[in-house]
Amino acid sequence: MFYAHLRGEESMIAIGSDHAGFGLKAEISKYLERKGIEFKDFGTFTEDSTDYPDYGEAVGKAVASGECEKGILICGTGVGIGIAANKVRGVRCAVCSECYSAEMARLHNNANVIAIGERVVGPGLALKIVETFLSTEFEGGRHARRVSKIMAIEDRQH
Ligand code: RB5
Repeated sequence: MFYAHLRGEESMIAIGSDHAGFGLKAEISKYLERKGIEFKDFGTFTEDSTDYPDYGEAVGKAVASGECEKGILICGTGVGIGIAANKVRGVRCAVCSECYSAEMARLHNNANVIAIGERVVGPGLALKIVETFLSTEFEGGRHARRVSKIMAIEDRQH
């Protein structure tokens, strides 16, 4: 289940969290609305305890399928939901707690999903991380070869 908000010039963003990321997901959703960035919310939609892998998988699949260009995930630490998203073929999810890593995750790793911990970073920094992630382009060049090698690991699994 998801809800779409506001159509902007940017491509569709997928967003999701467990209960521990629910508050920050609301903050990030408000930020995206203010910026006119269209997004789909894959839940959770209440503060009731729930399981982060469900949302990591849903957002990961939305990005891997091309339905959404990028994804934003939030749980308590960002770690569990990021691990889950990275199990989806085609996902490159980076857990980021500061802007430098978010910038480099785009420039060098072409990360298509970011994971943030609501219990780790405050809302102000989290919005800066999101802004950095959404506004930084992949540098390509030698980094494209390395990212291709990452993706080739998936092809050797089964
Ligand atoms: C939930 O308590 C917590 O374990 C989860 O949000 C996340 O931090 C897991 O990595």
